[in-house]
Amino acid sequence: MSATNSICIGSSALIRIHKVVTRGLSISMQCSRGTGPEPDLRDGFQRFVQALYSGFVVHNDGEDEIAFPLFKMSFADGPFEVLSSQHRQMMPLLDKVNAWCNQGSTAWETASIAGLHSTLSELNSLWHKHFPIEQILFGPRECERMLTPEENAWLDEQLAVHAAQYSHPGELVLPFILYNLEGDDRAAMASAMPQVIAEQLVPFDWKPSWAPMHPFLLD
Ligand SMILES: [Fe+2]
Ligand SMILES: [Fe+2]
Repeated sequence: MSATNSICIGSSALIRIHKVVTRGLSISMQCSRGTGPEPDLRDGFQRFVQALYSGFVVHNDGEDEIAFPLFKMSFADGPFEVLSSQHRQMMPLLDKVNAWCNQGSTAWETASIAGLHSTLSELNSLWHKHFPIEQILFGPRECERMLTPEENAWLDEQLAVHAAQYSHPGELVLPFILYNLEGDDRAAMASAMPQVIAEQLVPFDWKPSWAPMHPFLLD
C-alpha cells in the first residue's frame, strides 16, 4: 500500500463505527416503539441493544483515550473538550440502556419498553449533534494535515486493540459491527480484525450467540 493510500486508515475506522452506531440507534428506536418486537424476536432485540451499548461505549472511550490525545498533538485548539463532554453527557443514557438489557422479562413491561424508547430517542438526538463535528474533524483532508501515515497506522492498530480488549461480549459486538455495515465498509472492517475473528469465530463458533440478532442486521 502506498503512503497516500494508507492515509486516514485510523480516521476511516472511526467513521465506519459512526455508521454502525447511527444504524444501531435507528433500528433500536424503531423496534422499541409501542410494545416492542414480537415475542419471538425479543431475545434477538435485547442482544442487539446490548451490542449497541457496548460498541458505543468502547467507541467513545477509544476516542477519549487514544484518538483525541493524538489529534491534540497537531490540533491543540480542536473542540476535543466539547466532544469529550458530550461523551460524558451520553454516559447516563447509555447506562440506562444497559440497565434495560439486564432487566430480564420485566424489560417488556409497558413502562420499561417505553422508557427504553425515550432513552434511545434522547441518546439519538445527542448523537446527531455530536458525530457530525467529529466527521468534519476527522475528514480525509484534515486527517492528512494532522497526522502522518505512520500516526494513522498507529491509531488504527491502537483502536483495534482497544476494541478487541473492551468489546464485551465479543461474540455479539463484533458481528454487530460487521453486519451494521454494507459492502466495502464491512470488508474493510473485517480485514482490520484478526483473521480468526472474521473467518472462523463470527461465521461459525459465535454464530449461535448472534444469530438471534439477524432480523435486525443487514444481510
Ligand atoms: Fe465521539
Ligand atoms: Fe465518534
